[in-house]
Amino acid sequence: MDKNTKYTKDLYNKHAVAYTASIEKGRFYNKYIDMPAIKKIITGIKGKKVLDVGCGPGTYTSYFASKGATVCAIDISEEMIKLTHKKVPSAEVRVADMNKIPYPSGAFDLVFYGLSIHYLKDILPTLKEAYRVLKNKGRLVISTGNPAINGARLVDINGERMFVMENYFGAMTEQWQMVPGMIVKNYTKNIAGLINPVSNAGFRITKITEPKPAASSKKQHTDAYKRTTTAPSFIIIEAEK
Ligand SMILES: C[S@@+](CC[C@H](N)C(=O)[O-])C[C@H]1O[C@@H](n2cnc3c(N)ncnc32)[C@H](O)[C@@H]1O
Repeated sequence: MDKNTKYTKDLYNKHAVAYTASIEKGRFYNKYIDMPAIKKIITGIKGKKVLDVGCGPGTYTSYFASKGATVCAIDISEEMIKLTHKKVPSAEVRVADMNKIPYPSGAFDLVFYGLSIHYLKDILPTLKEAYRVLKNKGRLVISTGNPAINGARLVDINGERMFVMENYFGAMTEQWQMVPGMIVKNYTKNIAGLINPVSNAGFRITKITEPKPAASSKKQHTDAYKRTTTAPSFIIIEAEK
């Protein structure tokens, strides 16, 4: 296991409880942007075999199971896997690195990466694994940081918080605080760095979505709502084997 993966594993193990509590309380970006978009995109999974890659505390594992899918979930963190198992006893969960997916070829109808692929510097090996474990015509869905915002910095301009492009082309290691004391390290990508590996792994990209926040968040989260309706936060890539 490389140094960065070990860092991520130890971090999620150490902060598993606080991180999960913050997710369950409802973090703006997850609750109002990522999740509503994924719920619109991933439908019709009743009776399908779904793999949740980097499942964290099992939010999506639980959602897919509630929609009638047979769900398998992997994560590098033992504590995350324990929490997913507790939350979704029907799911088959395994501690595993997404670069080595512990399933046979052609096992799944859908492989999903929910805000997990940006923990890798090089995403091609895991995408090749996703391709391998998917059935023919199987679906890949990736939700990750939007490249347009990855190279930008949030600054105050005349009292307004705005994004200014700082370093679009440099693939950066972005560090930020998920919950107090939990500094995550993500490898941000530019558009080419994110999209080309998907097709280089063999996939045919079918749709790109750049979700905006749910209108229901406008009153309670005025600033975040404004910021994320003018600048993107995530990108969701759909592709087919
Ligand atoms: C931000 S959480 C996302 C959790 C969940 N998918 C969601 O959207 O709520 C990222 C997860 O990816 C996992 N992860 C990071 N690197 C990984 C790797 N190399 N293999 C498997 N899981 C990994 C982390 O342990 C963490 O649980």
